[in-house]
Amino acid sequence: MKSLGTLRQGVIAMTATFAASTGAALPAEAAPAESRSQVEEPLVIGHRGASGYRPEHTLASYRLAIDLGADYIEPDLVSTKDGVLVARHENEIGGTTDVADHPEFADRRTTKVIDGRPVTGWFTEDFTLDELKTLRAKERLPGVRPANTRYDGRFEVPTFDEVLDLARAEGRRRGVTIGVYPETKHPTYFDGIGLSLEEPLLRALARHHLDRPNAPVFIQSFETTNLRELDTMTKVPLVQLVDASGAPYDLVGRGDTRTYRDLVTPEGLREIATYADALGATKELVLPRDAQGNTGAPSDVVDDAHEQGLLVHVWTIRDENQFMANNFRVGIDPNATGDSIAETQAFLDAGVDGVFTDQADTAVEARREWLASHTPQAG
Ligand code: G3P
Ligand code: CA
Repeated sequence: MKSLGTLRQGVIAMTATFAASTGAALPAEAAPAESRSQVEEPLVIGHRGASGYRPEHTLASYRLAIDLGADYIEPDLVSTKDGVLVARHENEIGGTTDVADHPEFADRRTTKVIDGRPVTGWFTEDFTLDELKTLRAKERLPGVRPANTRYDGRFEVPTFDEVLDLARAEGRRRGVTIGVYPETKHPTYFDGIGLSLEEPLLRALARHHLDRPNAPVFIQSFETTNLRELDTMTKVPLVQLVDASGAPYDLVGRGDTRTYRDLVTPEGLREIATYADALGATKELVLPRDAQGNTGAPSDVVDDAHEQGLLVHVWTIRDENQFMANNFRVGIDPNATGDSIAETQAFLDAGVDGVFTDQADTAVEARREWLASHTPQAG
C-alpha cells in the first residue's frame, strides 16, 4: 500500500505529471492542468457516471458526471466472450440493455450461478464485443428515474478503453485531470471461466500510461484475493469494498467465514492495509442508522481506517428519498428528492475522503459549502 500522505499528495502530483506521462502535450488553452481535487479535499466520484441523470455506464453518463464536476468517474467492469473489458454493473445485461428486443440473441438467454446465486438472462461473456456493440443501453430504474428513459436506445455499451479515452479527452478539454475508478465485478467467477479481469485491466491502464504510482486511478473490488494479487502486479492504489452484510465471495468460496463486518474491525483493517490503500464503505458502516432509520453518531470505522493509513470513500449518495436515511428525506414520496446535500455533508463531517454519487452536482455543491465552512478565514 501507499501511505495516506502519499496518496493525498498524489492527488496534486498527478496534475503535474499526468500530461507528461501520457506522452501527449496538453493543448495550449488547457495548460497547465489543474486538478479538481486539491490536497485534503474530499473526492467526488461519479457513480456509474451520472447515473441519476442518464442510463448508467454509458459514455453520456460519464461525460455528464465530468460536466457536473466529478473528480473521478466509476466504471464497473465485466468481460466479453473475446476478453474485452466493458462497463456494466453486472455480467447479466437484460436489465440495462435492449438485448431482449434482439431476436437473433433470444437463444442466448440462460440461467447461470453467479457468486452462488442463480441468475437468468443474457451474459456479457456469451457475446463478442462486436455483438455487444449492436445493443443499446437503457435505464435500470425507470420507475424511479423516468426522465432518464428518454435516453433509452441511444447509447452503446462502452469498452474500458473508451472510458479511459473519454476521461483523458474531457480532462484535456477542460484543463483538469479526470480520474478513473474501475471496479472488477465477479472476479472469482470470471477467473473460473477463463476470462480473468485483472490482466486486461492492467494492460488497458498501461496502454493509457496509467499503470504507475500517482496515476489518477483507484482499482476497487468487493473480493480480497484479486486485490492481493493486484498488489503484486501494480502500483495503482487499491480499494477494498465492504458492505454492511454478507462476505467477499472469494472467502465464501473457500470456506473462510470472515464477513465484511469482520473486515472493518481494527484487526480486519490492519489486514486490509497490507494490500490495499483505501476502504470503499457502504454508508451504513460509517453512519449507522437507529431503529427509526435515522443516522446518529459516526461509527469508529473512519478513524480506525485512517489509523491504518487507509483512505475512506463511501458509497452511494443518491438524491432520491428511498436511498437515504429518514432524517435526510423530504416528504414521503420515495422517488422524490431528499436532502442529499445535508447527507453528503454528514459524511464529510464523519471524516470520509470521498463520496460515490449518482448526482455529482449535488455532491460538488455539498463539498463547496462544507469546505467554505471549514476553511479558516484569513486575518
Ligand atoms: O464501487 C462502489 C459502489 O459502486 C459499490 O456498489 O454495486 O454500485 O458497484 P455497486
Ligand atoms: Ca461499483
